[in-house]
Amino acid sequence: WRILVLNGPNLQLLGRREPGVYGSAGLADVEARLAAVAVEMGLELTCRQSNHEGMLLDWIGGVPGHFDGLVINAGAYTHSSIALRDAIAGVKVPACEVHISNVFARESFRHVSYLSAVCVGQMCGFGTDTYEWGLRALVRWLDTHVT
Ligand code: DQA
Repeated sequence: WRILVLNGPNLQLLGRREPGVYGSAGLADVEARLAAVAVEMGLELTCRQSNHEGMLLDWIGGVPGHFDGLVINAGAYTHSSIALRDAIAGVKVPACEVHISNVFARESFRHVSYLSAVCVGQMCGFGTDTYEWGLRALVRWLDTHVT
């Protein structure tokens, strides 16, 4: 499978940003771990990060024909972006929504996700390992639902 991993706003700060909430691993560490998992699972993995909603929309719009699945941590856009939701729904890409922190144990504005309903499923709360569990869950879903 060809998997796109998208990270949204402020996730370039991983490791330095509120380490008590998001941990000490940087985005490069997370992406290196995912690359190792991709080798193990025989995946083609592409990782991208942007602080710009429009950039994320353009990348999602470019999914058809290039990627089979999407792992997305949309950061705070999760709780605000109808446009990101429409993009995922529009390209019909099987997606896994991930969050490093347990968003349900935090402020109430983080309990609402505009993306959840258009994703296959969600994974959150396991620190930066959440990306790996999300990737593995999405791949299992693709293996069992997509020919
Ligand atoms: C986050 C949770 C969001 O509420 C927050 O705005 C983020 C990171 C997470 O990975 O836990 O930027 O998506």
